[in-house]
Amino acid sequence: MARVPSTSETCLIEAALRARENAHAPFSRFRVGAALEDEQGRIFSGCNIENATYGLTVCAERVALFKAISEGAAAITRVVVVADTHILTPPCGACRQILWEFCPGATLILANLHGRRETISLNDIFPRPFDSSFL
Ligand code: THU
Repeated sequence: MARVPSTSETCLIEAALRARENAHAPFSRFRVGAALEDEQGRIFSGCNIENATYGLTVCAERVALFKAISEGAAAITRVVVVADTHILTPPCGACRQILWEFCPGATLILANLHGRRETISLNDIFPRPFDSSFL
């Protein structure tokens, strides 16, 4: 399918902020939102969902990514992560691995609630990854 013009960065951040409103974070009270865009311009969002066992918690990035995959997303081009921190919150190690496997070329946009934002690549924060090329 043809590539469509991409959503503005601000719209993508707003989608992540809206998703963050649904965060289920009664244990940490740390609310995170994520939004992904695929090359067809579709947007998928997610929030962190915690669990009383703690360990079954799923981060916003993985919720958004798994939604995208299950809904037939095309290649993911951009990933936004938003949280209420001054130093912008990056994806955790587990999410870096999963993002690497599903969208290694994606641009990562980190943002907070006060308009601060930074664009990085997954490579910058996930050097020397393990992936299926080793299997
Ligand atoms: N969390 C995310 O959803 N994404 C991140 O990038 C960092 C951490 C969540 C997991 C947990 O619900 C809470 O933030 C505190 O770790």
